[in-house]
Amino acid sequence: MTAPSSITIRRPDDWHVHLRDGDMLKGVVGHTARQFARAIVMPNLTPPVTTVDAAKAYRERILAAVPEGMRFTPLMTAYLTDNSDPAELVRGHKEGVFTAAKLYPAGATTNSDSGVTDIANIRGCLEAMAEAGMPLCVHGEVTSADIDIFDREKVFIDRVLRPLLKDVPQLRVIFEHITTAEAVAFVDESGPNVAATITPQHLHINRNAMLVGGIRPHAYCLPVAKREKHRLALRRAATAGSPKFFLGTDSAPHAREAKESACGCAGIFNAPHALESYLTVFEDEGAIGFFEDFASRHGPAFYGLPVNEETVTLERVECEVPSSIDVGAAELVPFHAGETLRWRFRD
Ligand code: DOR
Ligand code: ZN
Repeated sequence: MTAPSSITIRRPDDWHVHLRDGDMLKGVVGHTARQFARAIVMPNLTPPVTTVDAAKAYRERILAAVPEGMRFTPLMTAYLTDNSDPAELVRGHKEGVFTAAKLYPAGATTNSDSGVTDIANIRGCLEAMAEAGMPLCVHGEVTSADIDIFDREKVFIDRVLRPLLKDVPQLRVIFEHITTAEAVAFVDESGPNVAATITPQHLHINRNAMLVGGIRPHAYCLPVAKREKHRLALRRAATAGSPKFFLGTDSAPHAREAKESACGCAGIFNAPHALESYLTVFEDEGAIGFFEDFASRHGPAFYGLPVNEETVTLERVECEVPSSIDVGAAELVPFHAGETLRWRFRD
């Protein structure tokens, strides 16, 4: 089969993104809005977005930061804490403010200090969410000091996720940014109320990218990239056409100096070339025919939202990814910095 010279698909959505706030928000939101119609916006600001009012105000700040001429719908999430109020969550969902709620195990990642210390503490919230049909987005890593960082996702499945779904079987769960073959298997064997997002970086890199030939902070994110066999399992899952897997970039900007540090921040800024990055994977796996499903159909279907009517086109033209991007508030090193990708998003 000859390679197509362009591909047009329904406009995709990003089912997991960090847009930040203030000047950083102003600098990065256009990169997401350029490619995606909607996005599930992470609530891990300081302070975190825990109330309906805070989410409404944040949504307004995002909309105000979207560049002229771009249409973009932020889908807000509630940050769960040990003290979250089930009634506030469900009210926010019913009012169309909270699309979902987000579980950060306390201490798992950036701005997760106010997260949940024990899943038992949010049992009432999870039952109320299941009842209301409100989805739970999950950062699936345990945080115990005795668990090796490369095992934290796998252990989370056994200690937290499996028991949770046994106890609250109707809960709709998005296991976010999965990184392991075990997570793929868990999602595959779970009911239709369990799905997962997959980032571009976890489809492209394994842990060698971070550690071979020198320590490379721009390849560091959480959950951390794993061994090659896990990357291959993720590529198979993403490109096989299963409705349980869909696009979520986890684009997470941090200023260059915050990454290139003795204690560098976790997060990969992949928004500028997200679709080009994903499409390369689908092409290499001989699965271009499933690209639109992964990028534009499976997410809306899981969240119960309509698909987008607009389209986007990617052309088979070389696309040079800059070594850094000045977003005003900061200098950011994007995913694929300095590489040439073989697809280009058409503006
Ligand atoms: O790498 C990450 N960065 N993983 C997360 O879970 C959070 C994110 C961030 O906010 O920077
Ligand atoms: Zn994230």
